[in-house]
Amino acid sequence: MTSLETNLASISRSAPRHIVVLGTGGTLAGTASSADDNVGYTAGQVAVSQLLAAVPALQRRSSEGWVIESEQVAQIDSKDMGHAVWRRLAERVQHHLERPEVDGLVVTHGTDTLEETGYLLQRVLAPVKPVVLTAAMRPSSAAQPDGPQNLADAVTVAGLPGARGVVAVLAGKVWWGTEVRKVHPYRLDAFDAGDAGPLAHIEEGRLRQLRDWPTGTALGLQVLAADIWPEVQIVVSHAGADGRMVDLLMEAGVQGLVVAATGNGTVHQDLQAALLRAQSEGVAVVRALRGGAGCIVPTGHDLVPDAGALSAVQARIEILLRLLARRG
Ligand code: SIN
Repeated sequence: MTSLETNLASISRSAPRHIVVLGTGGTLAGTASSADDNVGYTAGQVAVSQLLAAVPALQRRSSEGWVIESEQVAQIDSKDMGHAVWRRLAERVQHHLERPEVDGLVVTHGTDTLEETGYLLQRVLAPVKPVVLTAAMRPSSAAQPDGPQNLADAVTVAGLPGARGVVAVLAGKVWWGTEVRKVHPYRLDAFDAGDAGPLAHIEEGRLRQLRDWPTGTALGLQVLAADIWPEVQIVVSHAGADGRMVDLLMEAGVQGLVVAATGNGTVHQDLQAALLRAQSEGVAVVRALRGGAGCIVPTGHDLVPDAGALSAVQARIEILLRLLARRG
């Protein structure tokens, strides 16, 4: 076993762990009218306590002395995620992290905006205990659901001594919460992290670790306290793009703009002209990649800052948090 490798099988023989599972909904908690329907379901239907009770591996953990608590924070399709749920979730995560008896947290989530929540939680809380996001691509009513295995793996990772930071556990892989992104609408293995790759694989309850756990400096929960959050929008650079959308957003009082850029962060000249006008009027503007893996490589003469390897939606969260922090 390498120094980074940890045999999780040994955890179950060592001290039992205390894990809190916070439910927010998603396909993991979804139901369809038929067990062979994996797409025509309604997300966010089944209580997190019921989902946990249906996973034999977690029942086994409980019989070994593990405490697995649950709390329903929300019950939504994550496409509808918004500021109020984020703030409540961050508050509940912080609350449980501060309990000395709690070793780690799991957050059940929809896959669609998981990368945004992961980014937000890590930047705001940068926890020293593990906060493990998990989800499913098939509803709980499916004949072969993926949720139970993901839940069992997530609880295992949350109970791992030495684990820390916001990570996502999906389809046997562990990702950094700030790097993970959804890349497929249907496959069970629907997540990726571009060039960064996974943090670890989790195989039969055993972690095969490739990289270290995420660390960072917490902005602090108080950044989310404002009732009205800054307006930050995403515009896309594409063939035939122009600056009209930016002009309309400026009229509407936008405070931050992410442009999903082509190539190595390039922007259509007409859209670029509008973005530079917005920037000169005090709007926070940043370029993110429109898709794919990799990182924008600075040219040395860029007029608009870039968001490195962040997806456009994660860059939006970063701008949002910076504007909130600036309000202080
Ligand atoms: C959602 O994001 O809540 C629905 C889709 C999913 O979880 O896969």
